[in-house]
Amino acid sequence: MSPGGAFLGAWFPFPDNSHLLTPDLLDVDLVVVSHEHLDHLDLDLIAGLPAQIPVVIPRYPSTIMQRRLRAIGRTRAVVLDAWQRYPLGDDPDDWLTVIPEQCPMSHDAAVLIKVAGRSVLHTNDARISLAQTRRAMAEVGGEFDLMGVQMSGASWHPVRYEYDEAERERISTIKRIGKFKAVTRLLRSIQPRLVMPYAGPPCFLDDDLFELNSGLRPGGIFPDQGEALAWLAERLPQQPGVCLLPGDAVGLGDLEVFRDPHWQEFSLEAGVRERRRYLEAYAARRRPAIEAAWAANPLPAAGFAERFKAHFESLGTLSEYFLARIGMTVRFEVSGPGGGVWDAHIGPDRVWVELDGGEGHADYRLVLDGRWLDGVISGRTRWEELLLSLRFTARRQPDRYNDYLVGLLKHADRAALRAVERFEDARDPEETIEITVGGEQLQVGRFCPHAGEDLAETGVVVNGVLRCLGHNFEFDLTTGSCLNARCEPLVVRPAYISEAV
Ligand code: FES
Repeated sequence: MSPGGAFLGAWFPFPDNSHLLTPDLLDVDLVVVSHEHLDHLDLDLIAGLPAQIPVVIPRYPSTIMQRRLRAIGRTRAVVLDAWQRYPLGDDPDDWLTVIPEQCPMSHDAAVLIKVAGRSVLHTNDARISLAQTRRAMAEVGGEFDLMGVQMSGASWHPVRYEYDEAERERISTIKRIGKFKAVTRLLRSIQPRLVMPYAGPPCFLDDDLFELNSGLRPGGIFPDQGEALAWLAERLPQQPGVCLLPGDAVGLGDLEVFRDPHWQEFSLEAGVRERRRYLEAYAARRRPAIEAAWAANPLPAAGFAERFKAHFESLGTLSEYFLARIGMTVRFEVSGPGGGVWDAHIGPDRVWVELDGGEGHADYRLVLDGRWLDGVISGRTRWEELLLSLRFTARRQPDRYNDYLVGLLKHADRAALRAVERFEDARDPEETIEITVGGEQLQVGRFCPHAGEDLAETGVVVNGVLRCLGHNFEFDLTTGSCLNARCEPLVVRPAYISEAV
């Protein structure tokens, strides 16, 4: 809601929801925040609320949300464990709870609300499993009246990578369709009375990022609400769905939709020219906020390179488990005063930094303006905020994702990294499912080696490759190895082996 948007002035809600920012909106009993990404945790808005309004958050292994809230003077957040009920008034049947993702690599959670016999499941950005969703139905005693589903990716890959146009669109299509399919599968099993795809999307109003906006050309990884609903209507024609814009409302009894008159002249399907015109006018209104984001991130002070080195070396003390799974060189090509080419050698057993880098092989390369990187090094900005700001370009060789590298950077927190290690250590690779590939019966590990999605629900097999729709990791069904990311292999064996045992 706040005019400054999120992620270094890069993301703004689409369409513009600022007409809702009235005293009425701020007259609330309670605030629930799903996770600490700043497109969900609106610190400016919360800072303006009366101190007695409770702020309810899920418990995660790291306390970053509590620390961020404390920094704006909210010292008493209500921290809920998974499935713990927070009472809403005096009726014991009125409550809300939070459902964090199973794997602690991502700190995301759905929010489940039951009030006056009605129920809403809002998945936010969380990829909750079918089993978790079924438990949520059991908690509310039946079907959901309304289920909000996130159908857009929120990622810097592939949009900021140095791919040619065709490759970028090929990868974008895989990610977009993968996300759509995963939600479709979930809905086919769950069948809420009404589904609301919200799909984001963010919009990018800074001149440097403007052409990344969805709707200016086909494809991309940021579909809008209308595209998501059209996909669902085609695949699940029996499933009632609704596309809501900011200020629209739904009655949970008869599911009547009340449209905000603000949108009478607006349409998501108005076409490319109208979308561009709308975004340009919106960008003009947000110009002061974008200039403020630049001003808040000035050119780096003296000693930038040495501070960068110290920062990475301190990251190297957080988790041997992560270092062993990273084992790569990340090159930073930093422009502006005090910049240079810096190589961070991360793992497998230590971190060291060369400030006159650029000579040897680099697995990852990031090209960026020193002012944005300095925000991370100085503690103003978190790594994931910088990456989500899209204010960089990147290349990787080989072109394989490393979740541990992103995990180390985004958490930068010993407790959070230790929780991932414990989660992965506790997985049972012996639990398998049977699939048939090319006439051959195979047993494969039931749970994705990445973040533990149930492959009976999220696995699709194409040309001898199993793709997990959780995050689109692909596994070769002859070797089990992951083809597009650094990840433990999938257990794969002929089905006859277990029959013989
Ligand atoms: S859980 Fe992430 S790709 Fe499978």
